[in-house]
Amino acid sequence: MKALTANELRKLYIDFFVSKGHRQISGASLIPENDPTVLFTTAGMHPLVPYILGAEHPAGDRLVDYQKCIRTGDIDSVGDPHHLTFFEMLGNWSLGAYFKKEAIEYSYEFLTKHLGIDPERLSVTVFAGDENAPRDEEAASVWKSLGISEDRIFYMPKEDNWWGPAGETGPCGPDSEMFIDTGRPACGPDCHPGCSCGKYFEIWNDVFMGYRKDENGAYNEMSRKCIDTGMGIERTIAILQGKKSVYETEVFTPIIAKVEELTGRKYGADEEDDMSIRIISDHIRTSVFILGDQRGVAPSNVGQGYILRRLIRRAVRHGRKLGIEHAFLSDVATVVLSLYQDAYPELKEHEAFIFDELKKEEAKFSDTLVKGEREFEKMLPNLMKGTSRTISGRLAFKLYDTYGFPIELTEELAKEHGFTVDVKGFEEAFQKHQEISRAGAEQQFKGGLADHSEATTALHTATHLLHKALSVVLGGYVKQLGSNITAERLRFDFNCPRPMTKEEIRQVEDLVNEQIQKDLPVTIDVMSVDEARALGAAAQFDAKYGEKVKVYSIGDFSKEVCGGPHVEHTGTMGHFRIVKEQSSSAGVRRIKAVLEK
Ligand code: ALA
Repeated sequence: MKALTANELRKLYIDFFVSKGHRQISGASLIPENDPTVLFTTAGMHPLVPYILGAEHPAGDRLVDYQKCIRTGDIDSVGDPHHLTFFEMLGNWSLGAYFKKEAIEYSYEFLTKHLGIDPERLSVTVFAGDENAPRDEEAASVWKSLGISEDRIFYMPKEDNWWGPAGETGPCGPDSEMFIDTGRPACGPDCHPGCSCGKYFEIWNDVFMGYRKDENGAYNEMSRKCIDTGMGIERTIAILQGKKSVYETEVFTPIIAKVEELTGRKYGADEEDDMSIRIISDHIRTSVFILGDQRGVAPSNVGQGYILRRLIRRAVRHGRKLGIEHAFLSDVATVVLSLYQDAYPELKEHEAFIFDELKKEEAKFSDTLVKGEREFEKMLPNLMKGTSRTISGRLAFKLYDTYGFPIELTEELAKEHGFTVDVKGFEEAFQKHQEISRAGAEQQFKGGLADHSEATTALHTATHLLHKALSVVLGGYVKQLGSNITAERLRFDFNCPRPMTKEEIRQVEDLVNEQIQKDLPVTIDVMSVDEARALGAAAQFDAKYGEKVKVYSIGDFSKEVCGGPHVEHTGTMGHFRIVKEQSSSAGVRRIKAVLEK
């Protein structure tokens, strides 16, 4: 095997697929643009979903790239030697150009000829089949034709060998995963690739994107079948370099060296210290990528911003555990930047933002920590007196409310002292608090529209539905440029370079009426502008809003910053009809629409 570095592997992979007629495309933002169902880009295919579903990609039908990915499902496992929150994924795609045979042949050639992996050490899995898709004899026979013997081909069920969709709906299909046998003895007769004993090390995944999962959970076969593959860079270089853990590769050793320097601790000397060192290294690395993303967000209490806040705060706390008393995130972030700024130039571009936000959050949280930990220590003797080893939800909420102590940290602190936290109780206390503050905010926001008649209220809600429907039908670029409501009609101006077609107008009407028929609940949340933005709520963020804004959600369909008022349920609104679609000024279209009873 060739002991490649991350930079070498990235280049080798791209070059290989370019030599096979693929075009290199740029990886996308970590913050998905058109998928509100997930917070982060989790795979290379994620930004390519529209193309896998049939749209034409400007770069052609054979693509290759490297993509920044974040998977936060693993956030609590980070600390062990194998889990990461951020990783890079190499991938190649066929948008109907080739399917299983070529995809598997390319994979085999790259693994054996270019990475120098002994074919005898390769094992693969294929889909065992179920009511949605047949047993994948086709993939198995390609592997056999290349020399992989039957005993190294494992048929696995959907839980193991079906990939996607990336969000709740979208393209998905059976896959074939490639593993390197580490040579360790099997843990038992049922040991197989993917087994948790670690005998087999997953290196690559070829997904045969032949299905689309819809809103009802049904798997629909796609007429044009695509290939999606994914190879994790960190894992792959670890195995190529013969390292036991991703943290021992050159993408982590300089970060860890910096943490060692700052703490005076040695990585590898103490199990508990090692865990903190890995948490700090992983979390700061991920934070740098979130902040330095082309659509970077700042720490907040919602969405991506909240994950970022958790990462930063957890890193700070583990820094303190290792004895760091001063601000240190920027020192570690500097190392991350120097490792990645060539492959990801956006990091350098957003350097100032990265460091500013890290410093701000670190200072804010250090304050919180000192106060919160002191409070926790004070509570401890009392807690120890009792027989229960559970911290009540009320107490956890007090730490949160008074000291800004995130529940996850309370849980961690509690664990260190042999306690658990009543998280459900915490959530109840949290909900109750929200209801109270919401009632207060309602008062504060009275005002909004001058005319609060039933008719204008319904038209106001219709405006939100229209706004969202336009962005679904025409594209995410659609922005509200103006709105005016009378008791008779709504008027809505938006950016669009051309007249809408009759078909598009009908689609928009149908989409709005569908939401009305669903009788969706309209709910309100009060939050800061930044939080609303992080949540992806539509708004004219340049406009002047107060410190806090109201975000109106109509079911899961629309989220928009607005003063209200709105109907409580869409079912009462009547039938939505567009009466006019005309030009307003250059690049701006105007819609007039009514609600008919
Ligand atoms: N999308 C596939 C994965 O993430 C390749 O494994």
